[in-house]
Amino acid sequence: MPFENSLSFAQKLDREDPLYKYRDEFYFPRVNDRQVIYFTGNSLGLQPKRTRDFVDEVMNDWKELAVEGHFYAEKPWWDYHERLAKPLARVVGAKPEEITVMNTLTVNLHFLMVSFYRPTAKRFKILVEEKAFPSDQYMIKSQVKFHDLDPDNAIVELKKRKGENYWRTTDILEKIEELGDELALVLIGGVNYYNGQVFDMETITQAGKSAGAVVGWDLAHAVGNVELNLHEWEVDFAAWCSYKYMNSGPGNASGVFINEKYLGLDDIPRFEGWWGTKKESRFLMKSEFEAIDTADAWQVSNPPILSLAPYLASLELFEEVGMEALIEKRKKIVAYLEFILLQVSEEVRSNFEIITPEDRGCQLSVFLHGEGRSIFDFLMKEGVIVDWREPNVIRLAPVPFYCSFEDMYRFGQILKRGIEKGSE
Ligand SMILES: Cc1ncc(COP(=O)(O)O)c(C=O)c1O
Repeated sequence: MPFENSLSFAQKLDREDPLYKYRDEFYFPRVNDRQVIYFTGNSLGLQPKRTRDFVDEVMNDWKELAVEGHFYAEKPWWDYHERLAKPLARVVGAKPEEITVMNTLTVNLHFLMVSFYRPTAKRFKILVEEKAFPSDQYMIKSQVKFHDLDPDNAIVELKKRKGENYWRTTDILEKIEELGDELALVLIGGVNYYNGQVFDMETITQAGKSAGAVVGWDLAHAVGNVELNLHEWEVDFAAWCSYKYMNSGPGNASGVFINEKYLGLDDIPRFEGWWGTKKESRFLMKSEFEAIDTADAWQVSNPPILSLAPYLASLELFEEVGMEALIEKRKKIVAYLEFILLQVSEEVRSNFEIITPEDRGCQLSVFLHGEGRSIFDFLMKEGVIVDWREPNVIRLAPVPFYCSFEDMYRFGQILKRGIEKGSE
């Protein structure tokens, strides 16, 4: 369907959108007494209105039952986290037993490195994308140093070609082959946080495993955004945060996938705690660790129920809508946003550039060659919430759960005004 840059056309798309009603399930901040146009769900998702009830329920159980809430609350706390596994498994394409929720993302990546980065004298290299999210870089470097290895030697960065803004799968496959039996681990962000590129996770996973390496993915920007089939792709492990597209609240708990082939093993290296032991015997307070035969074996502490409650509320929404419908709308709304950007660019003869490649999810990253920071400031003042990444990039994520086509149209009008104002 050819798009049109008009309010009536955008409103027609909204009327045809089966997910439009979900917009009302979320709270939007207001600027200038108007609901904002929110493009930063790739950083922090909006608060679902139903979240408060889930949190209130825990607060109330704590008030009424105190310690008895562990076993006698309607949603008992001792196995509360298990309620998240099934819906999350559907979001990431896994079996429920391959999922656990615990800690936060970087913490989990550290824990997973204990199990999945086992360097030997020959096989010790880690393949990562260049300029990975800084926390991932710090995590990997510190892990390598922990093994008394030299990061400059052990960490291999995948480079983009000169003059290009994205990674080519062929280059990645070539690099995997070149590293061969020196390659211990491939660990990449499934969707890159900066340019929004979606990596070909299936092909890269297969290639890494054929080379004899372990393959893990940081899915912070992928979960709840793109199609994932972690089990079918035979991914070894993955982790993600829940505060971006999963809408579970600032700094909230992280999800973990561990391939079923690693479950129920007694001899896998792992940092352990009492919440990873079998439930039947946990409260016998025995000194032997008896691993649960699911990914919960990686659980260390008893989980923060007040954090899991908003995550559970959000997963209820994902269960209702399903990834398929979200992905279908996401493709359409991102295409419409791209169309609007190109229209504005033509109308005001601007020279901004969309650096996100065709393999994309919800995010378009726009390089503002000339306009720069003043456009960002103008947008924020006008109630368009975007984010700014050095040196000159704004990232736009029209999240299908709560963004409308009308938002895209209105954004285009505001952007145009901003650019025209800047060149006056
Ligand atoms: C790709 C990626 N990795 C890691 C992190 C760090 O997450 P956390 O602060 O939850 O450890 C983020 C946070 O935005 C991220 O985007």
